[in-house]
Amino acid sequence: MLQRNTLLKRHNTFGINASASFFACFSSEEELLVLLKENKNHELFILGGGSNILFTKNFEGLVLKNEIEGFKIVHESEKSVLVEAGAGMNWHQFVLKCLDLNFGGVENLSLIPGNVGASPMQNIGAYGVEIKDVFEYLEALHIETGKLKRFTNEECAFGYRESIFKNKVKGEYIICRVGFRLTKEHVINTSYGAINKELENQSILNPTIKDVSNAVIAIRKSKLPDPNEIGNAGSFFKNPIIPLKTLKILQEKYPSIPHYPAGDQSIKLAAGWLIEQAGWKGKTFNGSYGVHKKQALVLVNYGNASGNEILNLSNLIIEDVREKFGVHLEREVNIL
Ligand code: FAD
Ligand code: EPU
Repeated sequence: MLQRNTLLKRHNTFGINASASFFACFSSEEELLVLLKENKNHELFILGGGSNILFTKNFEGLVLKNEIEGFKIVHESEKSVLVEAGAGMNWHQFVLKCLDLNFGGVENLSLIPGNVGASPMQNIGAYGVEIKDVFEYLEALHIETGKLKRFTNEECAFGYRESIFKNKVKGEYIICRVGFRLTKEHVINTSYGAINKELENQSILNPTIKDVSNAVIAIRKSKLPDPNEIGNAGSFFKNPIIPLKTLKILQEKYPSIPHYPAGDQSIKLAAGWLIEQAGWKGKTFNGSYGVHKKQALVLVNYGNASGNEILNLSNLIIEDVREKFGVHLEREVNIL
Protein backbone atom coordinates (compact mmCIF):
# COMPACT_ATOMS: atom_id res chain seq x y z
CA MET A 1 0.00 0.00 0.00
CA LEU A 2 1.23 3.48 -0.87
CA GLN A 3 2.07 5.66 2.15
CA ARG A 4 2.52 9.45 2.00
CA ASN A 5 5.15 11.62 3.72
CA THR A 6 6.93 8.67 5.27
CA LEU A 7 9.79 9.31 7.71
CA LEU A 8 12.96 7.57 6.59
CA LYS A 9 15.05 7.80 9.78
CA ARG A 10 14.59 4.14 10.63
CA HIS A 11 15.16 3.14 6.99
CA ASN A 12 18.77 4.42 6.79
CA THR A 13 21.64 3.33 9.03
CA PHE A 14 23.01 6.91 9.13
CA GLY A 15 19.80 7.71 11.03
CA ILE A 16 19.18 10.85 8.97
CA ASN A 17 15.84 12.58 9.38
CA ALA A 18 14.40 12.81 5.89
CA SER A 19 11.06 11.91 4.42
CA ALA A 20 9.74 10.41 1.21
CA SER A 21 6.70 11.86 -0.53
CA PHE A 22 5.57 8.31 -1.25
CA PHE A 23 6.68 4.96 0.16
CA ALA A 24 5.68 1.35 -0.49
CA CYS A 25 7.05 -2.14 0.16
CA PHE A 26 6.82 -5.08 -2.22
CA SER A 27 7.40 -8.76 -1.56
CA SER A 28 6.97 -10.18 -5.07
CA GLU A 29 7.50 -9.17 -8.70
CA GLU A 30 3.72 -9.12 -9.16
CA GLU A 31 3.33 -6.52 -6.40
CA LEU A 32 6.25 -4.57 -7.83
CA LEU A 33 4.74 -4.52 -11.33
CA VAL A 34 1.43 -3.17 -9.98
CA LEU A 35 3.25 -0.42 -8.05
CA LEU A 36 5.28 0.54 -11.12
CA LYS A 37 2.19 0.63 -13.33
CA GLU A 38 0.19 2.78 -10.90
CA ASN A 39 3.04 5.23 -10.21
CA LYS A 40 4.54 5.91 -13.60
CA ASN A 41 5.19 9.62 -13.00
CA HIS A 42 7.15 9.42 -9.78
CA GLU A 43 10.89 9.48 -9.49
CA LEU A 44 11.89 6.12 -7.96
CA PHE A 45 14.37 5.05 -5.33
CA ILE A 46 14.88 1.35 -4.60
CA LEU A 47 15.64 0.76 -0.94
CA GLY A 48 17.27 -2.27 0.64
CA GLY A 49 18.58 -2.07 4.21
CA GLY A 50 19.54 1.61 3.80
CA SER A 51 23.14 0.96 4.88
CA ASN A 52 24.94 2.62 1.98
CA ILE A 53 22.99 5.84 1.50
CA LEU A 54 23.04 9.41 2.79
CA PHE A 55 19.87 11.50 2.50
CA THR A 56 20.74 15.18 2.07
CA LYS A 57 17.14 16.25 1.41
CA ASN A 58 13.62 14.91 1.48
CA PHE A 59 12.97 12.51 -1.39
CA GLU A 60 10.24 13.99 -3.60
CA GLY A 61 9.33 10.72 -5.24
CA LEU A 62 8.46 7.10 -4.48
CA VAL A 63 10.70 4.94 -2.31
CA LEU A 64 10.17 1.26 -3.05
CA LYS A 65 11.43 -1.07 -0.34
CA ASN A 66 12.41 -4.48 -1.64
CA GLU A 67 11.11 -7.22 0.66
CA ILE A 68 11.32 -10.21 -1.71
CA GLU A 69 12.33 -13.05 0.62
CA GLY A 70 13.27 -16.67 -0.11
CA PHE A 71 16.22 -19.05 0.00
CA LYS A 72 16.48 -22.16 -2.13
CA ILE A 73 18.97 -24.69 -3.37
CA VAL A 74 18.81 -24.62 -7.16
CA HIS A 75 21.36 -27.31 -7.92
CA GLU A 76 23.80 -29.41 -5.97
CA SER A 77 26.79 -31.56 -6.86
CA GLU A 78 29.37 -33.30 -4.72
CA LYS A 79 31.65 -30.28 -4.57
CA SER A 80 29.45 -27.25 -4.98
CA VAL A 81 25.94 -25.90 -4.61
CA LEU A 82 23.99 -23.18 -6.36
CA VAL A 83 21.73 -21.26 -3.97
CA GLU A 84 19.30 -18.47 -4.78
CA ALA A 85 18.17 -15.82 -2.31
CA GLY A 86 15.50 -13.15 -2.50
CA ALA A 87 16.76 -9.56 -2.77
CA GLY A 88 14.99 -8.59 0.45
CA MET A 89 16.78 -11.19 2.59
CA ASN A 90 19.14 -9.68 5.14
CA TRP A 91 22.73 -10.31 3.97
CA HIS A 92 24.11 -11.53 7.29
CA GLN A 93 21.12 -13.85 7.81
CA PHE A 94 21.93 -15.25 4.36
CA VAL A 95 25.56 -15.84 5.39
CA LEU A 96 24.45 -17.53 8.63
CA LYS A 97 22.04 -19.76 6.73
CA CYS A 98 24.86 -20.83 4.37
CA LEU A 99 27.11 -21.57 7.35
CA ASP A 100 24.35 -23.66 8.98
CA LEU A 101 24.16 -25.71 5.80
CA ASN A 102 27.98 -25.90 5.67
CA PHE A 103 28.09 -24.03 2.35
CA GLY A 104 31.31 -22.04 1.98
CA GLY A 105 32.37 -18.90 0.12
CA VAL A 106 30.62 -16.07 1.94
CA GLU A 107 32.07 -16.52 5.46
CA ASN A 108 34.58 -13.66 4.94
CA LEU A 109 31.61 -11.41 4.14
CA SER A 110 29.96 -11.98 7.53
CA LEU A 111 28.22 -9.11 9.31
CA ILE A 112 28.06 -6.73 6.33
CA PRO A 113 24.83 -4.79 6.84
CA GLY A 114 22.14 -4.57 4.18
CA ASN A 115 20.27 -6.99 1.97
CA VAL A 116 21.10 -9.60 -0.65
CA GLY A 117 19.66 -7.45 -3.46
CA ALA A 118 22.15 -4.63 -2.91
CA SER A 119 25.17 -6.92 -2.62
CA PRO A 120 25.93 -6.91 -6.38
CA MET A 121 25.34 -3.14 -6.67
CA GLN A 122 28.79 -2.28 -5.35
CA ASN A 123 30.20 -5.83 -5.42
CA ILE A 124 30.45 -5.89 -1.62
CA GLY A 125 33.81 -6.95 -0.31
CA ALA A 126 35.68 -7.58 2.89
CA TYR A 127 38.62 -9.56 4.24
CA GLY A 128 39.96 -10.78 0.92
CA VAL A 129 36.66 -11.75 -0.74
CA GLU A 130 34.25 -9.93 -3.03
CA ILE A 131 30.79 -11.03 -4.01
CA LYS A 132 31.98 -11.50 -7.59
CA ASP A 133 33.98 -14.52 -6.35
CA VAL A 134 30.76 -16.44 -5.57
CA PHE A 135 28.21 -14.66 -7.74
CA GLU A 136 26.56 -16.79 -10.45
CA TYR A 137 23.61 -14.70 -11.70
CA LEU A 138 20.93 -12.24 -10.73
CA GLU A 139 17.42 -11.59 -11.95
CA ALA A 140 16.31 -8.01 -12.23
CA LEU A 141 13.17 -6.29 -13.41
CA HIS A 142 13.63 -3.71 -16.14
CA ILE A 143 11.65 -0.70 -14.90
CA GLU A 144 10.68 0.64 -18.31
CA THR A 145 9.42 -2.61 -19.86
CA GLY A 146 8.52 -4.62 -16.75
CA LYS A 147 10.51 -7.57 -18.15
CA LEU A 148 12.78 -9.78 -16.06
CA LYS A 149 16.38 -10.04 -17.24
CA ARG A 150 19.05 -12.45 -16.06
CA PHE A 151 22.60 -11.06 -15.69
CA THR A 152 25.64 -13.35 -15.58
CA ASN A 153 28.76 -12.58 -13.56
CA GLU A 154 30.50 -11.22 -16.65
CA GLU A 155 27.53 -9.05 -17.62
CA CYS A 156 27.57 -7.38 -14.20
CA ALA A 157 31.03 -5.93 -14.98
CA PHE A 158 32.13 -6.14 -11.37
CA GLY A 159 35.07 -4.09 -10.15
CA TYR A 160 36.26 -2.74 -6.80
CA ARG A 161 32.99 -1.40 -5.29
CA GLU A 162 31.60 -1.22 -8.85
CA SER A 163 29.12 -2.95 -11.13
CA ILE A 164 27.12 -2.19 -14.25
CA PHE A 165 24.21 -1.18 -11.95
CA LYS A 166 26.19 1.82 -10.68
CA ASN A 167 27.30 2.78 -14.17
CA LYS A 168 25.92 1.85 -17.58
CA VAL A 169 22.41 0.78 -16.49
CA LYS A 170 22.15 2.93 -13.34
CA GLY A 171 18.53 3.31 -12.21
CA GLU A 172 17.17 0.99 -14.91
CA TYR A 173 16.75 -2.30 -13.01
CA ILE A 174 15.34 -3.60 -9.74
CA ILE A 175 17.25 -6.65 -8.54
CA CYS A 176 14.82 -9.35 -7.39
CA ARG A 177 16.98 -12.38 -6.61
CA VAL A 178 20.61 -13.45 -6.69
CA GLY A 179 22.23 -16.85 -7.33
CA PHE A 180 25.50 -17.81 -5.62
CA ARG A 181 27.88 -20.71 -6.35
CA LEU A 182 29.08 -21.98 -2.97
CA THR A 183 31.44 -24.76 -1.93
CA LYS A 184 30.88 -28.04 -0.13
CA GLU A 185 34.63 -28.73 -0.20
CA HIS A 186 35.89 -25.51 1.29
CA VAL A 187 38.78 -23.27 0.43
CA ILE A 188 39.63 -21.31 3.56
CA ASN A 189 40.74 -17.76 2.78
CA THR A 190 42.76 -16.13 5.53
CA SER A 191 44.86 -13.99 3.19
CA TYR A 192 43.76 -10.85 5.07
CA GLY A 193 46.36 -10.73 7.86
CA ALA A 194 43.96 -9.71 10.62
CA ILE A 195 42.03 -13.00 10.24
CA ASN A 196 45.13 -15.10 10.94
CA LYS A 197 45.96 -12.97 13.95
CA GLU A 198 42.43 -13.37 15.32
CA LEU A 199 42.51 -17.17 14.75
CA GLU A 200 45.90 -17.36 16.48
CA ASN A 201 44.50 -15.44 19.45
CA GLN A 202 41.78 -18.08 19.66
CA SER A 203 44.37 -20.89 19.24
CA ILE A 204 42.62 -22.22 16.13
CA LEU A 205 45.05 -24.02 13.83
CA ASN A 206 42.73 -25.63 11.26
CA PRO A 207 39.85 -23.19 10.90
CA THR A 208 36.43 -24.18 9.59
CA ILE A 209 34.29 -21.71 7.61
CA LYS A 210 32.40 -21.02 10.86
CA ASP A 211 35.72 -20.17 12.60
CA VAL A 212 36.59 -17.75 9.79
CA SER A 213 33.15 -16.15 10.06
CA ASN A 214 33.54 -15.76 13.84
CA ALA A 215 37.00 -14.24 13.39
CA VAL A 216 35.68 -11.74 10.82
CA ILE A 217 32.77 -10.85 13.13
CA ALA A 218 35.18 -10.25 16.03
CA ILE A 219 37.47 -8.03 13.92
CA ARG A 220 34.54 -6.04 12.52
CA LYS A 221 33.02 -5.52 15.97
CA SER A 222 36.34 -4.25 17.30
CA LYS A 223 36.61 -1.39 14.77
CA LEU A 224 33.35 -0.62 13.02
CA PRO A 225 30.55 1.23 14.79
CA ASP A 226 27.27 -0.67 15.17
CA PRO A 227 24.63 1.36 13.28
CA ASN A 228 22.12 0.50 16.03
CA GLU A 229 24.27 2.56 18.37
CA ILE A 230 25.99 5.16 16.14
CA GLY A 231 24.63 6.21 12.76
CA ASN A 232 26.97 5.39 9.85
CA ALA A 233 27.13 3.75 6.44
CA GLY A 234 30.45 1.91 6.72
CA SER A 235 33.36 3.27 4.67
CA PHE A 236 32.33 6.68 3.39
CA PHE A 237 35.11 6.70 0.78
CA LYS A 238 36.66 4.09 -1.49
CA ASN A 239 40.30 3.22 -1.12
CA PRO A 240 41.95 5.23 -3.93
CA ILE A 241 43.71 3.48 -6.80
CA ILE A 242 46.79 5.33 -8.03
CA PRO A 243 49.55 4.71 -10.58
CA LEU A 244 52.65 2.92 -9.25
CA LYS A 245 54.78 5.95 -10.08
CA THR A 246 52.66 8.18 -7.80
CA LEU A 247 53.24 5.70 -4.97
CA LYS A 248 57.00 5.98 -5.44
CA ILE A 249 56.76 9.76 -5.00
CA LEU A 250 54.56 9.42 -1.89
CA GLN A 251 56.91 6.82 -0.40
CA GLU A 252 59.79 9.30 -0.43
CA LYS A 253 57.90 11.40 2.13
CA TYR A 254 55.86 8.62 3.80
CA PRO A 255 57.92 5.41 3.71
CA SER A 256 55.36 3.47 5.79
CA ILE A 257 52.32 4.35 3.66
CA PRO A 258 50.11 1.19 3.48
CA HIS A 259 49.54 0.01 -0.10
CA TYR A 260 48.28 -3.06 -1.95
CA PRO A 261 48.69 -4.27 -5.54
CA ALA A 262 45.68 -3.37 -7.72
CA GLY A 263 46.48 -4.71 -11.16
CA ASP A 264 48.90 -3.60 -13.82
CA GLN A 265 51.05 -0.69 -12.60
CA SER A 266 48.28 0.32 -10.17
CA ILE A 267 48.27 0.49 -6.40
CA LYS A 268 45.46 0.73 -3.86
CA LEU A 269 46.08 3.07 -0.93
CA ALA A 270 44.30 2.90 2.44
CA ALA A 271 42.00 5.93 2.58
CA GLY A 272 41.65 5.40 6.35
CA TRP A 273 45.40 5.92 6.75
CA LEU A 274 45.40 9.09 4.60
CA ILE A 275 42.46 10.56 6.56
CA GLU A 276 44.05 9.65 9.89
CA GLN A 277 47.43 11.15 8.88
CA ALA A 278 45.62 14.31 7.79
CA GLY A 279 44.38 14.62 11.39
CA TRP A 280 40.66 13.88 11.01
CA LYS A 281 40.32 10.63 12.94
CA GLY A 282 38.04 10.94 15.99
CA LYS A 283 37.10 14.59 15.29
CA THR A 284 33.58 15.56 16.35
CA PHE A 285 31.58 18.59 15.22
CA ASN A 286 28.76 20.28 17.16
CA GLY A 287 28.76 17.16 19.33
CA SER A 288 26.60 15.52 16.68
CA TYR A 289 28.72 14.14 13.85
CA GLY A 290 32.29 13.45 12.85
CA VAL A 291 34.94 10.89 11.94
CA HIS A 292 34.86 7.59 13.85
CA LYS A 293 37.58 7.27 16.47
CA LYS A 294 38.54 3.69 15.56
CA GLN A 295 38.17 3.80 11.75
CA ALA A 296 38.85 7.07 9.93
CA LEU A 297 37.06 5.85 6.77
CA VAL A 298 33.74 5.90 8.61
CA LEU A 299 31.81 9.14 9.08
CA VAL A 300 29.32 9.02 11.94
CA ASN A 301 26.11 10.65 13.07
CA TYR A 302 25.92 10.74 16.87
CA GLY A 303 22.22 11.57 16.81
CA ASN A 304 20.87 14.61 15.07
CA ALA A 305 23.20 15.58 12.24
CA SER A 306 21.73 16.48 8.88
CA GLY A 307 22.80 14.72 5.71
CA ASN A 308 24.26 18.00 4.43
CA GLU A 309 26.49 18.40 7.48
CA ILE A 310 27.94 14.96 6.80
CA LEU A 311 28.27 15.65 3.08
CA ASN A 312 30.07 18.97 3.82
CA LEU A 313 32.43 17.17 6.19
CA SER A 314 33.22 14.66 3.43
CA ASN A 315 34.01 17.57 1.06
CA LEU A 316 36.43 19.08 3.60
CA ILE A 317 38.17 15.72 3.98
CA ILE A 318 38.43 15.23 0.21
CA GLU A 319 39.91 18.72 -0.18
CA ASP A 320 42.38 18.26 2.69
CA VAL A 321 43.60 14.83 1.52
CA ARG A 322 44.03 16.24 -1.99
CA GLU A 323 46.08 19.15 -0.63
CA LYS A 324 48.25 17.04 1.67
CA PHE A 325 48.82 13.94 -0.49
CA GLY A 326 47.69 14.90 -4.00
CA VAL A 327 45.28 11.94 -3.92
CA HIS A 328 41.58 12.16 -4.82
CA LEU A 329 39.12 10.34 -2.56
CA GLU A 330 35.91 9.15 -4.16
CA ARG A 331 32.77 8.61 -2.09
CA GLU A 332 31.50 5.06 -1.69
CA VAL A 333 28.18 5.99 -0.09
CA ASN A 334 25.26 6.85 -2.43
CA ILE A 335 24.25 10.50 -1.92
CA LEU A 336 20.58 11.39 -2.33
P1 FAD B 1 20.85 0.34 0.39
O1 FAD B 1 21.70 1.23 1.21
O2 FAD B 1 19.43 0.25 0.71
O3 FAD B 1 21.03 0.71 -1.15
C1 FAD B 1 22.31 0.94 -1.70
C2 FAD B 1 22.17 1.21 -3.20
O4 FAD B 1 21.69 0.03 -3.87
C3 FAD B 1 21.13 2.30 -3.53
O5 FAD B 1 21.57 2.98 -4.67
C4 FAD B 1 19.87 1.51 -3.84
O6 FAD B 1 18.97 2.19 -4.70
C5 FAD B 1 20.45 0.28 -4.52
N1 FAD B 1 19.62 -0.94 -4.31
C6 FAD B 1 19.39 -1.56 -3.14
N2 FAD B 1 18.66 -2.69 -3.35
C7 FAD B 1 18.42 -2.74 -4.68
C8 FAD B 1 17.72 -3.65 -5.52
N3 FAD B 1 17.11 -4.74 -5.04
N4 FAD B 1 17.68 -3.39 -6.85
C9 FAD B 1 18.27 -2.29 -7.37
N5 FAD B 1 18.95 -1.40 -6.63
C10 FAD B 1 19.04 -1.62 -5.30
N6 FAD B 1 30.12 -2.69 2.22
C11 FAD B 1 31.09 -3.50 1.77
O7 FAD B 1 31.19 -3.73 0.55
N7 FAD B 1 31.98 -4.09 2.62
C12 FAD B 1 31.94 -3.90 3.95
O8 FAD B 1 32.75 -4.45 4.69
C13 FAD B 1 30.93 -3.05 4.47
N8 FAD B 1 30.85 -2.80 5.80
C14 FAD B 1 29.87 -1.98 6.27
C15 FAD B 1 29.82 -1.76 7.66
C16 FAD B 1 28.83 -0.95 8.19
C17 FAD B 1 28.77 -0.73 9.68
C18 FAD B 1 27.87 -0.35 7.33
C19 FAD B 1 26.77 0.49 7.91
C20 FAD B 1 27.93 -0.55 5.96
C21 FAD B 1 28.94 -1.36 5.42
N9 FAD B 1 29.06 -1.60 4.03
C22 FAD B 1 30.02 -2.45 3.56
C23 FAD B 1 28.14 -0.94 3.09
C24 FAD B 1 26.80 -1.68 2.93
O9 FAD B 1 26.64 -2.64 3.92
C25 FAD B 1 26.69 -2.36 1.56
O10 FAD B 1 26.87 -1.43 0.52
C26 FAD B 1 25.35 -3.07 1.38
O11 FAD B 1 25.41 -3.90 0.24
C27 FAD B 1 24.17 -2.10 1.23
O12 FAD B 1 22.99 -2.86 1.26
P2 FAD B 1 21.58 -2.21 1.54
O13 FAD B 1 20.55 -3.27 1.32
O14 FAD B 1 21.57 -1.56 2.86
O15 FAD B 1 21.51 -1.14 0.38
N1 EPU C 1 44.02 2.48 8.63
C1 EPU C 1 44.55 3.53 9.34
N2 EPU C 1 43.70 4.31 10.04
C2 EPU C 1 42.35 4.10 10.08
C3 EPU C 1 41.80 3.02 9.33
C4 EPU C 1 42.67 2.22 8.61
O1 EPU C 1 45.75 3.76 9.34
O2 EPU C 1 41.65 4.84 10.77
C5 EPU C 1 44.93 1.58 7.90
C6 EPU C 1 45.08 0.24 8.63
O3 EPU C 1 46.04 0.29 9.62
C7 EPU C 1 45.45 -0.70 7.52
C8 EPU C 1 44.70 -0.12 6.32
O4 EPU C 1 44.40 1.23 6.64
O5 EPU C 1 46.81 -0.61 7.26
C9 EPU C 1 43.43 -0.91 5.96
O6 EPU C 1 42.52 -0.85 7.04
P1 EPU C 1 41.34 -1.93 7.23
O7 EPU C 1 41.89 -3.30 7.17
O8 EPU C 1 40.57 -1.53 8.44
O9 EPU C 1 40.46 -1.79 5.94
P2 EPU C 1 39.97 -0.53 5.10
O10 EPU C 1 40.78 -0.46 3.86
O11 EPU C 1 39.93 0.68 5.96
C10 EPU C 1 38.30 -1.91 3.69
C11 EPU C 1 36.88 -1.77 3.20
C12 EPU C 1 35.90 -2.20 4.28
C13 EPU C 1 36.19 -3.65 4.63
C14 EPU C 1 37.62 -3.77 5.12
C15 EPU C 1 38.02 -5.20 5.38
C16 EPU C 1 36.81 -0.06 1.53
C17 EPU C 1 36.41 1.32 1.16
N3 EPU C 1 36.61 -0.43 2.78
O12 EPU C 1 38.47 -0.98 4.74
O13 EPU C 1 34.59 -2.10 3.73
O14 EPU C 1 35.31 -4.11 5.63
O15 EPU C 1 38.52 -3.25 4.11
O16 EPU C 1 38.20 -5.86 4.18
O17 EPU C 1 37.30 -0.79 0.66
C18 EPU C 1 32.72 -0.66 3.46
O18 EPU C 1 32.89 -0.79 2.24
O19 EPU C 1 31.77 0.00 3.94
C19 EPU C 1 33.65 -1.30 4.38
C20 EPU C 1 33.58 -1.18 5.70
